[in-house]
Amino acid sequence: MTTGTADATHTDMEGTHTIMSITNGTRRRPHRWPQPLAGLRPGIWYGGDYNPEQWPESVWDDDIRLMREAGVNLVSVGIFSWARLQPAPDRWDFDWLDTVIAKLGAAGIAVDLASATASPPPWLTQLHPEILPRDARGDVVWPGARQHWRPTSPVFREYALEMCRRMAEHYKDSPTVVAWHVSNEYGCHNLYDYSDDAMQAFQQWARRKYRTIDAVNEAWGTDFWAQRMTDFDQILPPRFIGEGNFMNPTKLLDFKRFSSDALKDIFIAERDELARITPDKPLTTNFMVSGTTAIVDYDDWGHEVDFVSNDHYFTPGARHLDELAYSASLCDGISRKDPWFLMEHSTSAVNWRQINYRKYPGELVRDSLAHVAMGADAVCYFQWRQSSAGAEKFHSSMVPHAGEDSQVFRDVCELGADLGKLTSAGLLGARVEQAKVAVVFDAQSKWALEHTATPTQALQNWTEPLDWFSALLDDGVTADVVPVAGPWDTYEAVVLPTVYLMGEAMADRVRQYVRNGGKVFVTYASGISDDSDHIWLGGYPGAIRDVVGIRIEEFNPLGSDFDGVDATLDLDNGTVAHDWADAVSSVDDSCEVVARYEAAEDTGMKGVPAVTVNAFGNGYAVYVGCKLGQKGIATSVAPLLDRFGLSDASAEKATGSSAGAERSSAIMKVVRVAESGQRFTFLFNRTREEVRVNLAGTPVVESFATIDEQNHSAVLKPAGVIVLQS
Ligand code: GLA
Ligand code: GLA
Repeated sequence: MTTGTADATHTDMEGTHTIMSITNGTRRRPHRWPQPLAGLRPGIWYGGDYNPEQWPESVWDDDIRLMREAGVNLVSVGIFSWARLQPAPDRWDFDWLDTVIAKLGAAGIAVDLASATASPPPWLTQLHPEILPRDARGDVVWPGARQHWRPTSPVFREYALEMCRRMAEHYKDSPTVVAWHVSNEYGCHNLYDYSDDAMQAFQQWARRKYRTIDAVNEAWGTDFWAQRMTDFDQILPPRFIGEGNFMNPTKLLDFKRFSSDALKDIFIAERDELARITPDKPLTTNFMVSGTTAIVDYDDWGHEVDFVSNDHYFTPGARHLDELAYSASLCDGISRKDPWFLMEHSTSAVNWRQINYRKYPGELVRDSLAHVAMGADAVCYFQWRQSSAGAEKFHSSMVPHAGEDSQVFRDVCELGADLGKLTSAGLLGARVEQAKVAVVFDAQSKWALEHTATPTQALQNWTEPLDWFSALLDDGVTADVVPVAGPWDTYEAVVLPTVYLMGEAMADRVRQYVRNGGKVFVTYASGISDDSDHIWLGGYPGAIRDVVGIRIEEFNPLGSDFDGVDATLDLDNGTVAHDWADAVSSVDDSCEVVARYEAAEDTGMKGVPAVTVNAFGNGYAVYVGCKLGQKGIATSVAPLLDRFGLSDASAEKATGSSAGAERSSAIMKVVRVAESGQRFTFLFNRTREEVRVNLAGTPVVESFATIDEQNHSAVLKPAGVIVLQS
């Protein structure tokens, strides 16, 4: 995290609500996990979003029969039930939900109960159209889907908090309700609101953060283009400025920070309203941590939940498993390795992409177990029964349109049984073993790099950490993905992939880490700007030039939008740069060049250092000055991983032990360790071919795998996985 300190919420002098929290502090709430129903043993939670109001009551008993058959022990209820629970401003109807919860409780199925505030009913927006968000051009964001409310609307807040109060009062004594699911995916559809409510809240947020308007002017660099302000009331949200114009980047960055805080603020208000009445029930809200999304600063939000929960939807194609594992590991990082709750994923296709690919055979079970490998102690889906009407009727679910006589439901039952076996074996509560290598993720660098008017618009921050995670897997190393404010400096090696924003504190942390013997891999587009997105002067990467031991005077972006420009640059290690290369102009004496560009003389890039290693203090700083992609990174860093003793191969060399049957790059290996010392080793096939693995332990669960007991090995088919206990 890059700015300020945490703070409580208060009401300011004008009596309007002020968004106080500038960014995350250091205190996290104690981890509190949903406890089993009375008389039942704890287990990995298994189930999904359950929307019985979409079905006649006659279906409910059948739902419960099938849930029991599948081993479901928890469902999330009421997420989109506001219009049913409060059909008019002064009318409340809990009867139907009471019936549902009673049926579930009687069947031993726990409830993760929603605050029901995710989507306001039509009467509310009719009565109070002023709660509807505005887009950047000032147009109303109308009802017709969901989440059509302003995070900063005092009117919405009042109604939402009343809903929370009613829910908590009504269900405070329910033994079936084991957790609160506050709202749903905050910001999914209302992240940026440009209304006057948002404007006022943004002004107050800026006042809190900067205190004086001159400090805002300084941070935002407003002498550029005559933007100097004389009063906080001149601060506008980044509303539409005409096509092809360029928004002040620091204002934009602050608006993103503000928007994360504004949503967090309403979350905290809803959470506290529930917690006041039901202090014994743990609370969460479902994040959307994935390789591609960081719409709010989830690591910052991680301070505010009793347990972290996440929604993850698979990336079709070649990155399916890697992206899932990357995202799940980041979630584990946000949870600081406390077990976390997979609130939603899909049994098969989603329905919100252009083309909605289904999962291949075996992937339903494999995907869930990959989340479990990365620390999930709960596996839930959107949704229990596939809708026959509405905007998500083509989204897969646990009970598909075809009904219980279907492969999906058979797989759902198999997974339920597998989770039961893992529970019996003692997996619950086991922590993911810390890896040797951390790949750092910084949401705010991602935001800043997405802005206009950068060296190349082809650069997307999210691809780089994921490329590194995959490349390390190719080299046989499963890394942990760690948020920038997390404990990455406790790892043997750290990757800083396009960590573009680096304030003084972060730069010092990197410096200290390497000085003390850490190995850092820094990429291009890192350490360029401070927390206000002001460039560090004197040559890039100005924040940590001393650590990496190189100096860059100009960037050398690569592209193909003009005839005769260079789309790629070859490196002398056989890899290829694209999109971005640094024109490194000098290297320190302590710095060794391990790869150079092989370019035509006239480009000025011939022989320019591309990959370097600098000895700094007791450690080393590797600099990778271009975008190489997964394969290029894997090739370029493999010798360095060996040299630093970070790869399994090097460990095997050191101990003389055999690599055994498995090709390390074909396998993803993750270990969870229980308090008892028991180890659970998860082995996943990353390829579309069969792979043989050694059985260094007793198999607990396997899927798409054939065990060969005589040879102490197993063959994993594509999508195959095996969990070994030792
Ligand atoms: C135009 C403008 C300048 C500057 C340059 C940048 O010429 O007049 O203010 O923005 O473009 O290319
Ligand atoms: C999100 C929402 C769910 C559902 C799924 C579909 O995660 O929370 O309500 O819309 O997406 O993928």
